[in-house]
Amino acid sequence: MADSQFDADKFLNAARLEVQAALPNSTAQYHRACEVVPGGTTRSRFWWPMPIYIDRGKGAYVTDIDGRRYVDCNLGFGPMILGHAHPAIESALAEQLPKGVHYGAACLGEETLARRITQNLPGAERVIFLNSGTEATLAALRIARAATGREKVAKFEGGWHGAQEFLFHNYTTIDGEPAHVNAVPDMAGIPHGATDSVVVLPYNDSAAFSRIREESNDLACVIIEAVQGGGGSVPVDADFLRGLRQVCDELGVLLIIDEVITGFRIGAASAAGHYGITGDLTTLGKIIGGGLPIGAVSGRADLIELTRPVVGTDTSRPKAVVVAGTFAGNPMTMAAGIAQLDTLLGDAQSYVNLNALGERMRAGLAAVMAELGIHGHATGLGSMWGLHFTAKSPKNVRDMLDANHAASRLLSAYLLLEGVLMSSPAHLGFLSTAHKESDVDAVIEAHKNAFERMVHEGVLVP
Ligand SMILES: Cc1ncc(COP(=O)(O)O)c(C=O)c1O
Repeated sequence: MADSQFDADKFLNAARLEVQAALPNSTAQYHRACEVVPGGTTRSRFWWPMPIYIDRGKGAYVTDIDGRRYVDCNLGFGPMILGHAHPAIESALAEQLPKGVHYGAACLGEETLARRITQNLPGAERVIFLNSGTEATLAALRIARAATGREKVAKFEGGWHGAQEFLFHNYTTIDGEPAHVNAVPDMAGIPHGATDSVVVLPYNDSAAFSRIREESNDLACVIIEAVQGGGGSVPVDADFLRGLRQVCDELGVLLIIDEVITGFRIGAASAAGHYGITGDLTTLGKIIGGGLPIGAVSGRADLIELTRPVVGTDTSRPKAVVVAGTFAGNPMTMAAGIAQLDTLLGDAQSYVNLNALGERMRAGLAAVMAELGIHGHATGLGSMWGLHFTAKSPKNVRDMLDANHAASRLLSAYLLLEGVLMSSPAHLGFLSTAHKESDVDAVIEAHKNAFERMVHEGVLVP
């Protein structure tokens, strides 16, 4: 924040050294791994100051190769909603294991998991399975283009839909006024053609609607996260989402709700149920795989059926939308996903408890920040939360322009030293049914200690 003047590099370097000194085995492994894997792990961008190598997990906790135990608030970036090594998932996998882990030919679990989704998620008439959320968002865009005959796709500033050519634009970059955002790739290697086909919209800002109208002749779809996850756990405004649905309906633009994070996290009916808004297509991943790799696209039957191969003399559609993948719908993932959803949905209290824990976390963090006089805000919905060192509670990435980003990085390092595992710098927190109120209170206490240290260091200015 503008009011905080400190030598960020000095503190970041000191924190890195402190973490490395505390975790000698992870540090040695990091150096070895860097010889063959850039950054020591494929997802090094999410693990500042260095990757922590986990040996095992049980329930709400993980233990690293230095023997340090953490309250896990990352939960595999969201999927582990029952916590680690849950008996229901272990036994489902143990049952499938001796029968073979992968056939390529169809297995019974695919229909069962698809039915769990169609029975719970509004608007899900058909489901196709893939191996990741990124594959799901790519497939959804392809279906939308095929269905509408239009080429452009629209996404929101701050939206994370996986590292893919079309949607990895303006995740953090802000360029142009809200009414006319310029599409800017946020990574190297994106072809101009992809950028030219992307329209970027301001999140939670009705200027998005006029832009959709302007572009509608060429616009196949708009994709939105009902809670921007990677963007900092920022929920959509209900009125904004309703307005978006209306504009899309009026213009024949398909609405894709990206529920890769929120699917079966916010509730059985997911974010769509929470907001009462149905997407034409919905992308899913994470929780529905029970901790194994998965992605899925669900939605209107007429749209998803476009992926059915054209055979013989059917000339009504010249080509199908190809959705493939060696491991798609494999029996291990299906078994884990079914076990996870059945356990979650089989207990009427699951979401009541999860969402209450999320509320407790947000309220507790807000209270601590208020007590210390820190300019910070806890955002989120249900059992996911974000924390922002901003002047006002952010509604979109533009509200995060004044954020104290160095403090966010330092917070993750200090929390690690306090025994709390969260990815960095996104600081996106998740809770599981294995977390107890005492775990939430311990995480709040760890934040308090970290905040006090940062105030003492002058990193946060009350
Ligand atoms: C909303 C959203 N969509 C898509 C993805 C991509 O999913 P995956 O990482 O499984 O490819 C993510 C990943 O975090 C996500 O948060």
